[in-house]
Amino acid sequence: MKISQELKNTNSLKYDGIKDKFKSDDLLPMWVADMDFKCGDFIYEDLRKMIDRNHYSYKIIDDEFYSSICKWQSRYDVHITKENILYSSGVVSSMKACILACSDENDNILIQTPVYPPFYSSISVLNRNVIKNPLIIENDEWVVDFIDFENKIKKCKMFLFCNPQNPTGKVFNKEELEKLFSICKKYNVIIVSDEVHSGIVYDKKHLSLASLENFKDIAITLNAPSKSFNLASFSVSYIITKNINMKKRIRRILNKYDLNTVHSLGIQATISAYNKGDDWLKETTTYLKENIDFTISNIDKKIKIIKPQGTYLIWMSFENYNYTHKELEDILINKCKVGLNSGLDFGENSSLFFRLNVATSRDILEEGINRLKMINL
Ligand SMILES: Cc1ncc(COP(=O)(O)O)c(C=O)c1O
Repeated sequence: MKISQELKNTNSLKYDGIKDKFKSDDLLPMWVADMDFKCGDFIYEDLRKMIDRNHYSYKIIDDEFYSSICKWQSRYDVHITKENILYSSGVVSSMKACILACSDENDNILIQTPVYPPFYSSISVLNRNVIKNPLIIENDEWVVDFIDFENKIKKCKMFLFCNPQNPTGKVFNKEELEKLFSICKKYNVIIVSDEVHSGIVYDKKHLSLASLENFKDIAITLNAPSKSFNLASFSVSYIITKNINMKKRIRRILNKYDLNTVHSLGIQATISAYNKGDDWLKETTTYLKENIDFTISNIDKKIKIIKPQGTYLIWMSFENYNYTHKELEDILINKCKVGLNSGLDFGENSSLFFRLNVATSRDILEEGINRLKMINL
């Protein structure tokens, strides 16, 4: 993997944002979900052609963008055409557009916790109610409490789903998906499935909501090349639905709030990633998997980890240390000097969890793992 050694002083949120986030600037940044890896050369070459023209006028989004998405999605058995796709300036923007288009103020929207913080804020800022179905641990695996899910979903308008799941790294299997979605269908609940981490899955196949024809009338799938190809700052994402009526409603919201402005470089980067990025992604996923195995083998044994099945994030429990959340936070920042995401941002029951991003070089990862051992001193 080519590692970007020069990320410091490039306005990198992960590296240069550390001072703002942790009030300390000598931490090893292992927080925000992006990778330290350089993008593939195929992206550089295609973007350079655009830069060389030095001409940034208004652009049209041509069919190549849509066909690259259709081609990419077919690897997940998603069979769609341009008519099933809307684009937007980010997955969180898409999420908000779907909430606005397909629910009303004071409606209940269910999420499975712990989860990526904007799942909470997107619902509450739009004056809908957050209903939580906590994921539970059984036999060393994150699983769904289906009884709780059914009891709660029947009073909800929408299920805001995350698969692969951030932060646990859970990749839902077919049986779980069929069961969850059948319950949604029974109560006529719309499913919005955020699948932005679908490119990084280990030893398993990602199963997309959009591939399950049985649920197409209630299904909206969100995706983007940002996580798989490290393109977050390009602000490009897309929404897939086969329900023409829902599509119209979402498009109206995207237009109304200008949530569908995307940069031409981002459109090109998406096309390049999806048409040429297969080998790069395979190589990256292999490296990430080895990083996860390396972490599990070498990290302090008191830290409890359920091995992620996807994503480059490790959700770590520090409950064996007998520290409070505040004490842990203080030790991690001031003694270990490692910048991790705090569990509390992902759910109130996660105060003894922290999230580690392993998308970095093995050397940096090893340094982070060694620094974490300072917790015992
Ligand atoms: C599950 C999930 N959804 C959405 C996003 C953010 O997507 P965007 O930057 O396109 O809004 C992230 C970023 O980490 C994420 O983990």
